[in-house]
Amino acid sequence: MTLEELEAFGMSLGRLAADALPCVITLAGDLGTGKTALTRAIGRGFGVIEPVTSPTFALVHEYHTPVARRLFHLDLYRLKGPHELANLGWESISGERALVIIEWPDRAGHLVSADALSITLAHVGGDDSRRRVTW
Ligand SMILES: Nc1ncnc2c1ncn2[C@@H]1O[C@H](COP(=O)(O)OP(=O)(O)OP(=O)(O)O)[C@@H](O)[C@H]1O
Ligand SMILES: [Mg+2]
Repeated sequence: MTLEELEAFGMSLGRLAADALPCVITLAGDLGTGKTALTRAIGRGFGVIEPVTSPTFALVHEYHTPVARRLFHLDLYRLKGPHELANLGWESISGERALVIIEWPDRAGHLVSADALSITLAHVGGDDSRRRVTW
């Protein structure tokens, strides 16, 4: 997908998620494959007005839509292991009727629910403007 296609895909997904809560989407893929770009587009489709930014330092950001739907965006890149999730309030986040998007879900081990929508992004050799997106 081009960035434009990825954004259109994300917006559609976000619109669908708004009527399918609670919903967990995991985004796997190497650095720079577009996980945060896709999260931003999903957030826009979901109804979040403010731009979704990378939560690398906070590990989790919470957003609200004008109709009070909630989006939690987690970036677990710096997570040392599943035990650290407790400090993020994972227990309460996973119990919410919210949309939860998780970058680097492998860091959380089995704690991410098995019925999450798992999306994988990958670089395309020789073309930095495209990504392979599978789910
Ligand atoms: N087809 C594409 N799809 C997604 N991103 C693209 C595409 N083409 C170019 N890009 C660029 O690649 C970069 C992806 O960065 P992004 O922060 O979304 O990656 P990430 O997977 O979240 O990385 P990290 O693991 O560091 O969090 C952006 O600068 C984006 O503009
Ligand atoms: Mg990112």
